[in-house]
Amino acid sequence: MIENNKLEEMIETIDLEGVAPTKEPLRQYYFIKKAREYVKEANNKLGRTLTYCVVNFGCQMNARDSEKLCGVFDSIGYLETTEDQADFVIFNTCTVRENANDKVYGRLGRLKPRKQKNPHMMIGLCGCMMQEGLVVEKLKNSYAYVDLIFGTHNVFKLAELICARFESGDMVIDIWEDTNKIVEDLPVERKYPFKSGVNIMFGCNNFCSYCIVPYVRGRERSREPIAIINEIEKLAKDGVKEVMLLGQNVNSYGKSLEPKMTFAELLEEVEKVEGIERIRFMTSHPKDLSDELIDVMAQSKKVCKHLHLPLQSGSTKILKQMNRKYTKKEYLTLAAKIKTAIPDISLTTDIIVGFPGETEEDFEDTLEVVRKVRYDSAFTFIYSKRTGTPAAVMENQISDEVVKERFNRLLKEVQTISAQVTCVHEGNTMDVLVEEVNTQDDSLVTGRLSNNLLVHFKGNADLIGTIVPVKLTKCMGFYYLGEQVNSEMKEA
Ligand code: 5AD
Ligand code: SF4
Repeated sequence: MIENNKLEEMIETIDLEGVAPTKEPLRQYYFIKKAREYVKEANNKLGRTLTYCVVNFGCQMNARDSEKLCGVFDSIGYLETTEDQADFVIFNTCTVRENANDKVYGRLGRLKPRKQKNPHMMIGLCGCMMQEGLVVEKLKNSYAYVDLIFGTHNVFKLAELICARFESGDMVIDIWEDTNKIVEDLPVERKYPFKSGVNIMFGCNNFCSYCIVPYVRGRERSREPIAIINEIEKLAKDGVKEVMLLGQNVNSYGKSLEPKMTFAELLEEVEKVEGIERIRFMTSHPKDLSDELIDVMAQSKKVCKHLHLPLQSGSTKILKQMNRKYTKKEYLTLAAKIKTAIPDISLTTDIIVGFPGETEEDFEDTLEVVRKVRYDSAFTFIYSKRTGTPAAVMENQISDEVVKERFNRLLKEVQTISAQVTCVHEGNTMDVLVEEVNTQDDSLVTGRLSNNLLVHFKGNADLIGTIVPVKLTKCMGFYYLGEQVNSEMKEA
């Protein structure tokens, strides 16, 4: 991560009279400087400053990409505003399930009349959905009023693409099939001052048979540990207390690096960064979760007591068809091992209901795992057919009726267990990182426990970003009400 003054110095040295450099990130510094001129010119004509809004549809990886997009918009002179006010609206899309795509088309349709009224308005689309050929075709044919389309591999090019749009006056499309490029040192705007996501790797090599991610995010590539640690050190200096290390499968971090490094080793390095008090990560594939990682988690003072361990299905037969590379028994053994090593760990998961060929017996296996592991919470999904994935052409797709009935049963089971598991901390005093003033009652603040549970307690905005001990007085099922135990704030 580059500091703002350094970035400005670099941009300052760029000569716009010359040709654009070919090397990154210098090339983008050139286009940031150039885009500033276009934006300034437009602002002068309009007599006000152009505004933007990045709307995020996806996961934490997308959210982090959105922060990078915001960083570039800020840097070239746009002001951030709400979607209904913005001159430039970008949808950072998700395509993991079909309804994510439908949502984007709906929102896009609603922008059309605004664009017709406001000649300065621009609409951009990026993210996972844009990596699908059919989607881009549809946009070209039926949504010609879109200005900018790019994908997941070239998010760093936003300034260059905005320049291209200003220059051509026409729709700009730039989609890369794949990349091994990782461009560092571009501007980022963080949503929260006290916590931040940090990409440690990009892409996925697992090809779970239902999942579109490997096709739209490309092959797995890890960032150099030095770049990650540098970024975290800078974040810590900037007041960040909690980092979330991001990757589709963090447990295979570093396999392609020279020299190799394991994820557990990386965690130990992050732990050494002064000022960082909490370390989270997302997501862990059970097949790659090592004993070394369990040891590091058990011993660490900073790694949060929370592990998201996607199950997807409890049936060994379905797991095989999903290409998950573990059995029901192996998953249960792993979960038990983690709970023994880290007794206060919170385990959460993702489960898909209605994968092709799922029988009542297979579904019962999933319920059994849920009952045995007793997750703190679970994201439950109805299987969604993604064109281009192996599961989409499997026989025995399950009827909507059967899936819905199973989904409801699963949800009930998950919620009942979750309410019981959540409440075990009632009466205890635990550290809370305060995130915001409560949105419903401004005499309260809301924060998170190490295990990711939310706690509401009396307090004011001064507490935001601090870690304070709170007595968990009442469990409300999925969150706690509490009382701060001493008025002294715990300093970082
Ligand atoms: N249908 C339903 N859920 C899916 N997921 C991924 N692909 C699909 C699909 N085709 C879920 C998985 C994954 C989470 C991010 O989304 O459970 O862990
Ligand atoms: Fe998709 Fe599987 Fe990769 Fe996760 S590990 S992103 S579910 S292919």
